[in-house]
Amino acid sequence: MKILVVGSGGREHALCWAFKQSEKTEKIFCANGNAGIAEIAECVNIKPDEIAELADFAETSQIDLTFVGGETSLALGIVDEFEKRGLKIIGASRQAAQLESSKSFAKDFMAKHNIPTAKYKTANSAEEAKEILQRGLFGDENAPVVVKADGLAAGKGVVVAQNRAEAIEAVSGLENLVGKKATEKIVLEEYLTGKEVSLLMFADGKNFALMPPARDHKRIGENDTGANTGGMGVITDTNLLNDEQQNEIIKKIIKPTLNGTKQEGFPFCGILFLGLMMTATGAKVLEYNVRFGDPETQAILVRLETDLIEICQAMLNQKLDNTIIKWKKGSSVCVVLASRGYPYKVAIGDSINGLNDVAAHKQVVVFHAGTARNEIDEFITASGRVLGVTTAAPNLNGAINRAYNAVSQISFNGMQFRRDIGN
Ligand code: AMP
Ligand code: GLY
Repeated sequence: MKILVVGSGGREHALCWAFKQSEKTEKIFCANGNAGIAEIAECVNIKPDEIAELADFAETSQIDLTFVGGETSLALGIVDEFEKRGLKIIGASRQAAQLESSKSFAKDFMAKHNIPTAKYKTANSAEEAKEILQRGLFGDENAPVVVKADGLAAGKGVVVAQNRAEAIEAVSGLENLVGKKATEKIVLEEYLTGKEVSLLMFADGKNFALMPPARDHKRIGENDTGANTGGMGVITDTNLLNDEQQNEIIKKIIKPTLNGTKQEGFPFCGILFLGLMMTATGAKVLEYNVRFGDPETQAILVRLETDLIEICQAMLNQKLDNTIIKWKKGSSVCVVLASRGYPYKVAIGDSINGLNDVAAHKQVVVFHAGTARNEIDEFITASGRVLGVTTAAPNLNGAINRAYNAVSQISFNGMQFRRDIGN
C-alpha cells in the first residue's frame, strides 16, 4: 500500500516509522515531513492546511491510505474532502474536530452529555470575561482560575492563573498571545487539582480501542516549573491508571462522549485523546484532542505490536471490535530535546552530534521533530522541539535509564531537556 502521512513533527515521524514496520507498506509519503522523516519516507512539499492540494496529490499518486497527524488539517475538513473524493483517510471529520478546535463547543458538549469536567463559563469578549471574574464566579479574589482561548492556539491558549488579578491580566494578554480569531470567545474554568493522564483511543464510529495511558510533561522546567510547552516528554505505563479508574473513565467519559457524537450527528472516527485530571472526586476531562498527541505518539507507538495498517483497515471497516491490538508489556519513555530559547523565540541551525552513536542501540528510536540538513548534509536544528529520544522497556525505570543514556550521547548548541521525565 501507498501511505500518506500529513504533518511534519515527531508525531508524524513516529507514524511513518510505525507504517514502515508493516509488510503491507510499499511506500510512505509525508507532507511535508522533516529531515528525519526523509530517511524513511518521501517528503512532499504540501503544507497541512493545503487541503485541496493534499487531496489532489493523494488522487494522482494513488495513495491507498492517508493518516492525518495534526488538528489544523482536521479542523479545515481534510477528512470530509478526502471522503467526498472516495479517498481512504484516518482522522476526525470537520464537525467532530470542533471538540478540539473550539473549547466552548467541547464544554457545551460535555455539559449536555453529563461528562465530568471543570465548571465553566464562556465569555464572548475580553470585557465580558473580566466582568465574570469580578463577579467572583470561581471563588474569591485569591482562588485560582483557568483562562482558555476558545480556538486552536498550538498549546499556548491556556493560562492557569493563581488568583483573580492574574486571571484578569491573562484575559487582557490572551489576544496578543494567540491572535484575534482564537479569542473571539474565552472560556473561564474552575481550577482542578490532581494528577494528569492522557488516554488515547482508536475509534471507528461504532467501537473504540484504548491505547496505554500516558503522561505528558508540559512545563519547560524540571519539577513542572516554568512555561507551558507542546510537551517535553512522555511516559506510558499501565500503573498510570488502575482497572477501577479505567472502568470508571469508560463508563462516565468515553461511552457518553462517543454516544454523544452519534446523537449529535458526527459519530467519532479517528483518534480521540482525552486530557484527564484525576481529581479526588474522580476523573474529569480537561480537554479533548481529536488526534494523536505529540510526543504521546512517540512513546505509544514504540509499544505497538499490531500492524498499524491492520488497525487502520479495521477502523475504516468499523471492525475494531474484531481486532486484537497488542502492546509491548511494560513502559516507555520519550525525552524531548529542544532548542535554545524554546518555548519562546528559538535559535535554529545548530549541528546535531551523536545521532549515529544512538542509532547503534536497536532499542532506542530517535524521532525527529524539527530537523533539517545543512549544506554538508549534517542534521541541524530547525524548530523548537528537535528530537524525541524514545524507548520501551519491561519497567519504567529501565525505560528511563535507557532513554537518558541515549540522551547523553546527543548534543547540540543550547540543547534543553528535562532530566525528570517519568520521575
Ligand atoms: P488544555 O490544553 O486545556 O489541556 O490545558 C493545558 C494544561 O493546562 C493542562 O494540561 C493542565 O495542566 C492545565 N489545565 C487546563 N485546564 C485546567 C483546569 N481546569 N484546572 C487545572 N489545570 C488545568
Ligand atoms: N502533548 C500534548 C498534545 O499533543 O496536545
